[in-house]
This record gives sequence, C-alpha cells and structure tokens, in this order.
Amino acid sequence: MSPDNTSSPDASSLHWVFGYGSLIYKVDFPFVQCAHASITGWARRFWQGSHDHRGTPSAPGRVVTLIPQARARCRGVAYQVEQQVFEHLDFREKNGYQRRSLPIRLEPCGAQVSGTAYVAETANHAFLGDAPLVEMARHILRCAGPSGSNRDYLLQLADALRMIGEEDEHVLELAAAVLEQSMGKEC
Ligand code: SIN
Repeated sequence: MSPDNTSSPDASSLHWVFGYGSLIYKVDFPFVQCAHASITGWARRFWQGSHDHRGTPSAPGRVVTLIPQARARCRGVAYQVEQQVFEHLDFREKNGYQRRSLPIRLEPCGAQVSGTAYVAETANHAFLGDAPLVEMARHILRCAGPSGSNRDYLLQLADALRMIGEEDEHVLELAAAVLEQSMGKEC
C-alpha cells in the first residue's frame, strides 16, 4: 500500500484488453493506461448479431466480431485494466462474445503483451455471418436497441478508427453504403 493509503494497483492484477469495436469509443470502465494497438491474424467484420445493444432478439442489429484470417492485422485500442473490470465487460459483451487470450502489439513502442479480446465465434447463437454489402447496410439502417441505433454504432466506429489513423476497408465501405442509403431515404 502507498504511504497515503491510496491503493495503486498491483501489477500482477493488471490485464490488457484489446478493443476493436464499441470498446474503442464507448469507454465506460476504468483503466490504468491505454494505447493504440494491433493484433495479427484477425479481421474485424460486421458479422455478429446484437440482441441487447443495437437490436433486439426479434430484430438483431449487426456489430463487429473478429474472424481469423491469415496475415490480417486489426488495429484498435488496448486498455490496461484491473481484474474486476472483467465483470463489467463480461456483462456488456454477453451476447455471444467470449474472452480470448491473444498477443497484442502496443503502439508506438511495438512491445508485445499478452491480453484478452472479446470474440464472438461463428458457433454462437447470435452469429449472422457475411452478406452482400448493400444488404448489410440496409439491415444496419433499420435496427436499433437499448444502446442506440445500429447506424450510430457503425458511424461512431468509423469515426473512432479514423481518429486512430486506421483505414479499415470493410468498415469504411459499409459506412459509405449506409450514408448513401440514408440519403436516398431522405430525398
Ligand atoms: C470490442 O469492441 O472490442 C468488442 C465488440 C463490441 O463491443 O463492439
């Protein structure tokens, strides 16, 4: 314990969590430090259904998961958190996501640390999988849930990725398709 009795976390109780979706822009948990970061062998895809945040069980939204892909690199943000933060994150990511251990490369130093990401694997009950871009955009435009519209989830993620200098083609193309379709609706 430090002399003034404020507890500084014991390094052995700290863990790195890699955020690649809403965990990049909706940071509703305490962390000790954070850094831009990447993982390799995984691609970010809007292939997971959301029953509890951006959709409902009868009209699930589309949110991101990680899909194994050789040589792919996914950039996001890594947070160093205390163990008890996982209680909150497990609840937040409960709709099909599982904690998965994986190496995370921190930027700009390039250090590699062991960490965790929430991955919704193809066998989970809410998995939607791939679909043509136009269909995915249409799907996202009509869905909303307790955390807000599915459209906002996508556009906030696209903005957050832009802010960390990441050009994720899949996200950018989907965001462009959603904006194009919503303009069509307004006319
Ligand atoms: C993540 O952000 O790392 C997991 C997926 C999500 O909550 O959007």
